[in-house]
Amino acid sequence: MSLKDKRILIGLTGGIACYKIPYLVRYLWREKAEIRTIMTENATRFITPLTLESVSNNPVATDLFPPNRFAGTHHIDLARWPDLIMVAPATANFMGKIASGISDDLLTTVICATPKPVMIAPAMNPQMWLNKVTQRNHDILGNLGYIFIEPDEGYTACDHYGVGRMAEPQELFEAVKQFFFDRAKGSKKTLTGKKIVVTAGPTREAVDPVRFLTNRSSGKMGYALAEAAASLGAQTTLISGPVNIPPPLGVHLIRIESTDELHAAVKKAFASCDCLIMAAAPADFSPAQSLETKIKRAASDLSLNLKPTKDILKEVARRKKAGQIVVGFALETDDALANARKKLSEKKLDMVVVNTPGEDTGFDHDTNEVTLLVPKKRPVKLALASKSEISYHILDRVSALL
Ligand code: CTP
Repeated sequence: MSLKDKRILIGLTGGIACYKIPYLVRYLWREKAEIRTIMTENATRFITPLTLESVSNNPVATDLFPPNRFAGTHHIDLARWPDLIMVAPATANFMGKIASGISDDLLTTVICATPKPVMIAPAMNPQMWLNKVTQRNHDILGNLGYIFIEPDEGYTACDHYGVGRMAEPQELFEAVKQFFFDRAKGSKKTLTGKKIVVTAGPTREAVDPVRFLTNRSSGKMGYALAEAAASLGAQTTLISGPVNIPPPLGVHLIRIESTDELHAAVKKAFASCDCLIMAAAPADFSPAQSLETKIKRAASDLSLNLKPTKDILKEVARRKKAGQIVVGFALETDDALANARKKLSEKKLDMVVVNTPGEDTGFDHDTNEVTLLVPKKRPVKLALASKSEISYHILDRVSALL
């Protein structure tokens, strides 16, 4: 999704996460978006307007009544200019003010005056985030149509652990791209009210404390599916092995490492979901015993005893309740359709997405070429397309099955 000529207004309020915003500005700028920024007085205590001016190539607005005023109305011009406004970092104070209709500085006045969509990326101490008034304001604003990029869990600058850290600049950037992608697609919310669980990425099976067995799965297909499911309105849980992709917007992320951990997480999430899509590539074998100390170098050969892991899909599909849909993937190098059909019936699946590793397909590629198999129907071969586009096709099928 190109951001060429998209006008994005970024509002910064007073939080330490301000130091991350120049990265966001650069990501957007590289995609040829036009960027303007507004800083509250407290934001200018954390980074200087000069920093933002330099990375955005535009002057930074800070005053409701700037000394060298030009004709026209400063806050109304700024309110009308963008295609999208993002407030990041957004403090509890900022959220409280706009939830109450207070406009006592340039940013809150622009927010009050704008007809444009507004995204909010909160950043604060975990206790401030949990504060009932902050949560009430979050709900009020969410119900009014403000789009939240929820804070992450982890250590905050004040060294407290919990939810409150601003989402990383890369995630904010993805959120902006997703926003324009959805808008361009005129995304119909066909999965509203549905709970979808997607698994993604490889697993790691420990050999000893420093070594593990894994595979080449990048997680791209599963992440694209989760992103598409969320944008179609589904309440989406993504259970992910170790990968290098930021979590998609609006998705509940559960991280796992081993196939056993994946199994436990899937079992739990499956109990209350409408559809499970197993795009992960769990290891089929695991060391029979994981050693507690590092295996030392030796001159002789070393053999590892491997035991099969649980077939998660098969285990879970056996227990599916009426109305639940289970989708599996089949990565095949030969006899693709015949092997995939076998998986479809043996694992009692509702759909299998068949793919074969190739030049532009399979592991670590942004594109894929797949065939969709459902019981008693002819296979549907999709043309080579981005993993995002393929995800929408798969989810169209899921939506029909549901
Ligand atoms: N899968 C699973 N648990 C495993 C291994 C695989 O649930 N321990 C799931 C994958 O997520 C995928 C499907 O099973 O959705 C098929 O995976 P694939 O590797 O193609 O097939 P396998 O069943 O592992 O059989 P084989 O490797 O022999 O083709």
